[in-house]
Amino acid sequence: MAAARGQFGSRLGFILAAAGSAVGLGNIWGFPTQAASNGGAAFVLVYLVLAFLLAYPVLMAELLLGRHAHGNAVIALTRISEGPITKALGASTGLVGIVVASLILSFYAIVAGWMLGFTAAYPLSALGMQTSADWLTTFAIPRNLALMAIFMLMTIGIILGGVHNGIERWSTRLMPSLIITMLALGAYVLTLDGAMEGLAVYLLPDFSKVLSGDLVLAALGSAFFSLSLGVGTMLIYGSYLSDDEHLPSIGVQVALIDVGLAVLAGFLILPAMYVAAARGVEIFDASGALLSEDTLIFTVLPALFATLGTVGSLVATAFFGLMSIAALTSSISMLEVPVAFLVERFNWSRRRAASFAGLAIGCLSAVVVVNFNQLFGLVVSLSTRYGQPLLGVMLCIYAGWVWHRDSLLQELKKNDPDADQGWFWRIWPFYVRLVCPVIIVIIFARSIG
Ligand code: TRP
Repeated sequence: MAAARGQFGSRLGFILAAAGSAVGLGNIWGFPTQAASNGGAAFVLVYLVLAFLLAYPVLMAELLLGRHAHGNAVIALTRISEGPITKALGASTGLVGIVVASLILSFYAIVAGWMLGFTAAYPLSALGMQTSADWLTTFAIPRNLALMAIFMLMTIGIILGGVHNGIERWSTRLMPSLIITMLALGAYVLTLDGAMEGLAVYLLPDFSKVLSGDLVLAALGSAFFSLSLGVGTMLIYGSYLSDDEHLPSIGVQVALIDVGLAVLAGFLILPAMYVAAARGVEIFDASGALLSEDTLIFTVLPALFATLGTVGSLVATAFFGLMSIAALTSSISMLEVPVAFLVERFNWSRRRAASFAGLAIGCLSAVVVVNFNQLFGLVVSLSTRYGQPLLGVMLCIYAGWVWHRDSLLQELKKNDPDADQGWFWRIWPFYVRLVCPVIIVIIFARSIG
């Protein structure tokens, strides 16, 4: 194994890196409109409760397993297993996680590339380079390939730096800028006509919508994606944490930042949409639902920015810069999953592992770009609808059933001698054993049924 394992230099560095992984395109392009269309503040409340009831326990399973093994998911899941079958199944779960993390990165990098393109397009257009700006913002294979490649190179560049000088350093730089930009944009948008109407749609609670079962299930699913669970991302980050850290409270902070930024994004997106509506931009689809996801980001918001004149270019650049940052702190956490495995399993240098994995995933991504209509949706649903929940169940089973209770308690006692008296020990082991796997299986069955 490589001589010295990387480690996070500080607790704050870890929290920002893990929150950076969690806060991504999902928070900004999915959550706000989902909330607005589904009961506003009531949805936000349900989401918050579910994030803590379901996603937090799985997050803790990953952090604890990773820190216990100080190794990647394959090492972590085999080490806690006793028999040959559980060992083999654990190793396979770790390997499938690596594949799913790579698949997620292969589609994520395409979307993130678009964000880069839009970030650069507004200043270029202001400088009179309209042709380049149009090229960057028009859907086409060469442009999608080029932007994806640039984004992958940025991701690889950070991962080459390692845990402390790459992941931690860039997360502590980028996360504060993300939060400040979001606050500034939100404050600006709230001064425009129509913003208050958007705010009302976002916040007025409508509990009748929230009580529908489908909605609860949808909220559970997005909480899972949002906290980067299942594929071993949080596990590998946890493996770089020192034994002195109190994991249950660190996990709470990461989950709170993730949910907090999703909620904050709503204070920007919903008012912005209603400002756009006040300026004649269409914000509803044919069935009367709020436009969301890619149409929201690449059609509705640009139409709004276009009505704002010079300020509009600035606001647009800041907004797409923010999306690019959110994507980058997430993509590095995905690439770290295969990289850590290659380093620890085959003794590769980080340089070699990062270049190889980055390049391989870049090629996969290129295949998706070229066959966009056939592959993009397929890769998204294969990895996020099937891969993540199934892996989540496996992680719960390993943390709850395979991992010896004594060994688990010892892990918790490393920095908290009274861990067996605390709330976490009273609730979590039972929870991750029974409640989590059952709920995830129900969601899964309903989502494919
Ligand atoms: N959580 C991120 C988002 O909301 C995406 C992400 C990062 C992710 N790492 C992951 C999703 C691992 C699934 C698995 O956009």
